[in-house]
Amino acid sequence: MIFESHAHYDDTAFDADREEILNQCREQGIETIINVSASLDSVKSTLALAEKYPFIYGAVGIHPDETGELSEEAFAWLCGQCRHPKAVAVGEIGLDYYWDKEKHELQKYWFRRQMELAKELGLPIIVHSREAAADTLEAVRAAHSPKLRGVIHCFSYGPELAGEYLDMGYYIGIGGVVTFKNAKKLKEVVKMLPLERILLETDCPYLAPEPNRGKRNTSLNLPYIAEAIGQLKGIETKEVIRVTNENAKTLYFGGR
Ligand code: NI
Repeated sequence: MIFESHAHYDDTAFDADREEILNQCREQGIETIINVSASLDSVKSTLALAEKYPFIYGAVGIHPDETGELSEEAFAWLCGQCRHPKAVAVGEIGLDYYWDKEKHELQKYWFRRQMELAKELGLPIIVHSREAAADTLEAVRAAHSPKLRGVIHCFSYGPELAGEYLDMGYYIGIGGVVTFKNAKKLKEVVKMLPLERILLETDCPYLAPEPNRGKRNTSLNLPYIAEAIGQLKGIETKEVIRVTNENAKTLYFGGR
């Protein structure tokens, strides 16, 4: 059974066939899905999906691109949503200097506040970091505590940085990019990562793996990602699926 650790099924890309795709996921062995929010609106749509489907859980948080929506009032509301019985993580949160939509100071401020919130509630964090390697590491280090666990999702940096996060106890989220021919750096990262610290993710509807690159992504593509990881590590796809499922359950449900 496969654990999808990062999906956006509330995205409008699924408006026409959401129910059908989610049913297919269940039929094809997707056991659990974490639907990840990014904006205040998507916190609502994520929790609505989690209420409708027993196998979907929610991550509640504001993406760095959307931090302009946050105020103390909105943050207080967000804290309340994190107490929803199916909210299992704070995310996605972090820094994005690629799109650079909000000022770096604002992104850093709300990243820190949301990490503090996660610590307070005992929830893991889902970190989004794009072209912000040094500042992300600095912020995560500053917030580091044995009580704060999490995953660096869609990891896009090198082996050295992966090592820094492993040392702090983080998991590394690996998605469709690992199947791309030109993804040399990520392939090196996957080779050095212990299988016990990898989570499978799609980030659907984005980043479909080969052979479906460029199309709308769904969790049905997760076996391609597991296969690519298995090839790099010289192990069977089913072993990758089994261990990453256990890893995700440990992170999100405390092993339940
Ligand atoms: Ni995402």
